[in-house]
Amino acid sequence: MTDITDEQRQRLIDAALKARQQAYAPYSKFPVGAAVFTEDGQVFCGCNVENASFGLTNCAERTAVFAAVAAGYQQFTALAVATAGGYSPCGACRQVLAEFSDDLPILIIDARSEGRVEEVSLTELLPRRFYRN
Ligand code: THU
Repeated sequence: MTDITDEQRQRLIDAALKARQQAYAPYSKFPVGAAVFTEDGQVFCGCNVENASFGLTNCAERTAVFAAVAAGYQQFTALAVATAGGYSPCGACRQVLAEFSDDLPILIIDARSEGRVEEVSLTELLPRRFYRN
């Protein structure tokens, strides 16, 4: 399903796993790492950043997307997200991803067993997204 090469895929997985180590998650104790690939082969990383005022928490996927957008990139070819257990992106992150991509391959990594990567698509996770243009 992915348009990216095996080498790029591995680079994205490694970046998400590494970003997870930067998570600021003192409340949930659930570190999450994410990485997005831009159309021209750049990788932007993100981690979850929690706050004492819980609602201000930013998820890893959105941190990665916002970092890419802030650097001038809005076209993505894949996203990887790493958690202990291999969880898929929350609804808010799905909607943010859908802002920039009609569809997007998403690599769901179980950080407890690096080999376990499940590939899904954004349209599978968020059919009939809300989008106006
Ligand atoms: N979290 C993410 O970073 N991404 C998601 O898609 C779901 C949840 C974070 C938010 C919070 O810091 C922790 O995981 C527990 O919910």
